[in-house]
Amino acid sequence: MAIVGQGYVGLPLAMAAVNAGWTVIGIDNFEAKVSQINSGKSPVEDISDVQLQAALKSGAYKATAEFSEVADASVITICVPTPLDDKREPNLSLLQSAATEIAPFVSNETLVVSESTSYPGTLRDIIIPTVESLKPKDSVKVYYASAPERVNPGDPIWNQKNTPRLVGAIDKESKSRAVAFYQSICDAVVSVSTPEVAEAAKLLENTFRLVNIAMVNELNQICTAAGINIHEVIDAASTKPYGFMPFRPGVGVGGHCIPVDPLYLAWWARQLGSRALFVESAGSINYLMPKYVAQRAIGLVDPSIKNPKILILGVAYKPGVGDVRETPVSELRDHLLLSGADVAWHDPLVPTWKGSNSVDLNWQCDVAILATRQPGMNLERLIAKGVNILDCTNSLNGQSGVTAL
Ligand SMILES: NC(=O)c1ccc[n+]([C@@H]2O[C@H](COP(=O)([O-])OP(=O)(O)OC[C@H]3O[C@@H](n4cnc5c(N)ncnc54)[C@H](O)[C@@H]3O)[C@@H](O)[C@H]2O)c1
Repeated sequence: MAIVGQGYVGLPLAMAAVNAGWTVIGIDNFEAKVSQINSGKSPVEDISDVQLQAALKSGAYKATAEFSEVADASVITICVPTPLDDKREPNLSLLQSAATEIAPFVSNETLVVSESTSYPGTLRDIIIPTVESLKPKDSVKVYYASAPERVNPGDPIWNQKNTPRLVGAIDKESKSRAVAFYQSICDAVVSVSTPEVAEAAKLLENTFRLVNIAMVNELNQICTAAGINIHEVIDAASTKPYGFMPFRPGVGVGGHCIPVDPLYLAWWARQLGSRALFVESAGSINYLMPKYVAQRAIGLVDPSIKNPKILILGVAYKPGVGDVRETPVSELRDHLLLSGADVAWHDPLVPTWKGSNSVDLNWQCDVAILATRQPGMNLERLIAKGVNILDCTNSLNGQSGVTAL
């Protein structure tokens, strides 16, 4: 098989496929990443160097920037980014270029699957016409399916193998090939009637998280104003054995999925002459959270200090990863700087960010903001030193000098 895009989705998929007995070609147009992977150094936290090196050594896996190598594959999956453009609308240029690059080399009877997250209709309206118009003449039949990736980087429990996989295909033969393929690498495959259902389900999953996080972020502001601890409220509500799922407040939402995918949904709604007002409102609430957190942190500093020194702990968008894409900590830092604060940051998994380096925990500050609790952060030392900490992670409850967000 060939996997186009060797990032957070494509590389773990490659390793899962190798484990399932496939011979895998990992294609990436970023040559430095290809060299890094082939030298046995994994670019993603979920794949260890040891695992990658074993796959390379066995001959079952290699990375390449050569799209012509897909000619040997009976299955091609596309796992490239689907970001936003300047107008915060879907930017499918990478997906389009991946389809364009593989098309001339697709062999007869190949299954092409899109795993990238996008709006319903992407497989049928963009990928299929591109491949069909550019495929070799003797490549009489190509099969197509959509199987949106659900990987959760840094998750010690759920991975590509044990997370059920949605598959939606364009016809019966494509469906049976796609289901058989995913059955070979996943414990459970859920077949849905069309690619559009699979694409829409992926948007629903991530939008569900966005709106619930927004709701609890909003409720946190209300509870804080009323002097009620939101976490005690959430814990109390969580004792209901059905119909409730806990979400926790935080600095906002980050990463490649939760802040981005709902905007695909909102754009799709507008194309249909409709509006996703609820989703747009949730996006706005989360977008304003970094400002709220900045104000709360500055409120903990003695007002006589004009330019407080503020240390941000954790800048990645979630624990266990060094991924800073769309991290809300970026806006948090901007708001603090705008307020005149002297800001430094510490993250054991992010050595450099925004042109500056992670400082150590000895950096003298008036207040620290625990934005993302990374493994390996020695916060006990800060607490012992009596540093005031605004805890946005609900992980330092009740300790001296700690204020919950
Ligand atoms: N990261 C996640 O947690 C996650 C989870 C589920 C779904 N997704 C979705 O999966 C897709 C990929 O996300 P990711 O996080 O793996 O991205 P990533 O940035 O980690 O990796 C994508 C890789 O694709 C390469 N690439 C870009 N354009 C290319 C092209 N035209 N041809 C070949 N290679 C190309 C990049 O160099 C990069 O190495 C996105 O649609 C994303 O929304 C991501």
